[in-house]
Amino acid sequence: MKIFLDTANLDELRKGADWGIIDGVTTNPSLIAKEGRPLEEQVRMICEIVDGDISAEVVVTESGEMIREGRELAKIHKNIIVKLPLTRDGIKACAALSKGEGIRCNVTLCFSASQALLAAKAGAYFVSPFVGRLDDISQNGMDLIRNIVAIYKNYGYTTQVLSASLRHPIHVMDSALAGAHIGTMPFKVLDQLFNHPLTDKGLENFLKDWGKVFQETGAVR
Ligand code: E4P
Repeated sequence: MKIFLDTANLDELRKGADWGIIDGVTTNPSLIAKEGRPLEEQVRMICEIVDGDISAEVVVTESGEMIREGRELAKIHKNIIVKLPLTRDGIKACAALSKGEGIRCNVTLCFSASQALLAAKAGAYFVSPFVGRLDDISQNGMDLIRNIVAIYKNYGYTTQVLSASLRHPIHVMDSALAGAHIGTMPFKVLDQLFNHPLTDKGLENFLKDWGKVFQETGAVR
């Protein structure tokens, strides 16, 4: 499963990129707004940090305007994926940009498998089902990932399932088990994936044992 960072924060992206395990970035208007720079400028800076698919979302709602804005976003950098909401207009814009112009699109705000079917039909490169936001309203978000993966397999759709709104490490593990192509997560969740008390304890003991031998024999290696 590819790992994307779900943030527009440059410091977080630099830290993640430094670990050598980031395959891409997802942003949304809320995440961009938090950083206080114009969308295009922020996205350009993100593209300089991470060499991978970078989702940038339109901020208009009518299909013609989405198509125009999508074209402009796609011009920013070759790695830009145009993010469109799963509305009638968004699906229409996705079909026009993906099938008509070869511009890669990420259909976002997907909350049902039937919506995901529409994204695939429109030729979306990614579909973004939101796991955490479904869990928040007492629906099983991970069931949605499993259902979409199964439906896409049934028909050989090439749209990649981008498991989004992941809130903790179990969401990441379950997305991978369900067969999601990508998991996008906040920096905090990525950082949590490293943690295990037995790793810390084991390393502490290895170094303690090695230190004893070193003191007794003077061995360096
Ligand atoms: C994905 O593309 C979205 O930006 C994101 O995963 C939403 O996450 P949230 O529900 O935690 O805001």
